[in-house]
Amino acid sequence: MIDLRSDTVTRPTAGMREAMAVAEVGDDVYGEDPTANALETEVAALFGHEAALFCPTGTMANQIALQLVVPPGGELLCDADAHVVTYELGAAATYGGISSRTWPAVGAAVDPDVVASMIRPDGYFAVPTRAVAVEQTHNRGGGGVIPLAALRELRRVADDAQVAVHCDGARIWHAHVADGVPLATYGMLFDTLSVCLSKGLGAPAGSLVVGSADKIERARFIRKRMGGGMRQVGILAAAGRYALANQVQRLAEDHAKAARLADAVAPFGVLAAEVRTNLVPLDLTKTPMDAHTFAAAARAEGVLVSVLGPRTARLVTHLGVDDAAINRAIDVLTRALRT
Ligand SMILES: Cc1ncc(COP(=O)(O)O)c(C=O)c1O
Repeated sequence: MIDLRSDTVTRPTAGMREAMAVAEVGDDVYGEDPTANALETEVAALFGHEAALFCPTGTMANQIALQLVVPPGGELLCDADAHVVTYELGAAATYGGISSRTWPAVGAAVDPDVVASMIRPDGYFAVPTRAVAVEQTHNRGGGGVIPLAALRELRRVADDAQVAVHCDGARIWHAHVADGVPLATYGMLFDTLSVCLSKGLGAPAGSLVVGSADKIERARFIRKRMGGGMRQVGILAAAGRYALANQVQRLAEDHAKAARLADAVAPFGVLAAEVRTNLVPLDLTKTPMDAHTFAAAARAEGVLVSVLGPRTARLVTHLGVDDAAINRAIDVLTRALRT
């Protein structure tokens, strides 16, 4: 099977498995896992922040970060398609007592003027806005990249209003590779980030919350409360360290493969957005075929694609699909679209 459903389906490479096998470990709840500690130090430095905290999942990293920047009863602003309000099952409200309000999603775009107009000040008449969250790259926004200029303007708006900015940077590595923006340049624009090792980077698990030393000290407490205190977690942290050292720049290959897929399906009028990174969003409204029929036809020929809605589907490239697999997928998918 050629699996184009998600970049979360990757399996550890041989080099990564070797790094995991020989990882030095200790009890991380005691703060004694040298590999986890090293990973946290490395990731904090990459983003120009003081500290970072290893978490089992991107969802937990996002939710810990949101609890850091929004107190119970406070408000988070984000776009209506953001992962934090679409796929995290109400966690911000459930665990953090956080109220969320959204602006209409337009791909990955963020309009700082729209955000500025939504911010509600402190006081007891209305729920006060405490933080704004953005997603880089944007998952439901088709892997789109928020331009640096828009993020800088958003930071200015947030500073003026004294609200925090969180970045769901599950795929921020892709933005870094696509736009050539240094990770530390992104890092400096956000109070907190969550960054993920188990998507395009290919580690089996793990995300980190990144922020100031005092925030990460609190994050450690929240992580334990949420059941995310793990023990000899260096086995997983070693995979993350390996990924950072060896599997970031290769994301450009995934972007090139996604561009090839996009070029192949574009003549059928199904491309939902410009493809910038490793996600290829498909809009099947102008074809006779719905997304389930398309996915079933592809599956029958050995290609797996994601169904995101009745007429929306998605292809994702990652280190588990080589050029030969992309050629085969193009053949299968274009045949399916032709019928
Ligand atoms: C943008 C984004 N943020 C967060 C997550 C959550 O990551 P996890 O599945 O590790 O909880 C995902 C997962 O796909 C994602 O795409």
